[in-house]
Amino acid sequence: MKNAFTTILLLAFPSVVAALNPFAALVQKPTNVVRVEEVVVVSPFENELGAQEPLGFWDPLGVVADGNQTTFDRLRYVELKHGRIAMLAVVGYLATQAGWRVPAFADLPCGFDALWAIPGPGFQQILVFIGLLESEVMKDVIGGEFIGDFRNGLLDFGWDTFDDETKLKKRAIELNQGRAAMMGILALMVHEMMGVSLIPAGVKIEIIMKQM
Ligand SMILES: *[C@@H]1O[C@H](CO)[C@@H](O)[C@H](O)[C@H]1NC(C)=O
Repeated sequence: MKNAFTTILLLAFPSVVAALNPFAALVQKPTNVVRVEEVVVVSPFENELGAQEPLGFWDPLGVVADGNQTTFDRLRYVELKHGRIAMLAVVGYLATQAGWRVPAFADLPCGFDALWAIPGPGFQQILVFIGLLESEVMKDVIGGEFIGDFRNGLLDFGWDTFDDETKLKKRAIELNQGRAAMMGILALMVHEMMGVSLIPAGVKIEIIMKQM
């Protein structure tokens, strides 16, 4: 009877178990640690698109620490746009470096050299073209589903046929490709300035080989 009572007591009051258990402190520790983590790691945007392995939500400067949605949306918009431009830049850099040219510009150099070699009117046309894209095409025309949804009804690659999970995955891929491309074009530019071509069989590599 006494034993049965003790058992009931032990089952009913975990703190009694803890008090009787010499390893109570050790047993309890992990629960405490978990609880502390739950309290400390709270960020308003940690479940946003792009907060993922290995860094998770990464905002070392705390620019969105106050949870301001307007600020977050603007930064996400800029991040996405820079990423998209950087992806085009990397492809353009690699393609021109590999010798591809629009026929009218067959004798233009690539990389930074192209900046100085493009004739003035050509430069102006490029600027006007970019301005047109910026003001008329690459913008939120239809009041899109998310920040950076620039569909304008002209091109349809079947976005509406995807389910929500696929959409989220595609957007995460775009965001990450863009992030990688920003690093990529930066590396290409820096290496070109340092005189090291990253492109195998590029013109510069040939020159370096001849010098050696
Ligand atoms: C969020 O930031 C925007 C732009 O900086 C500002 O206009 C707005 O007042 C802020 N909102 C809040 C709730 O602080």
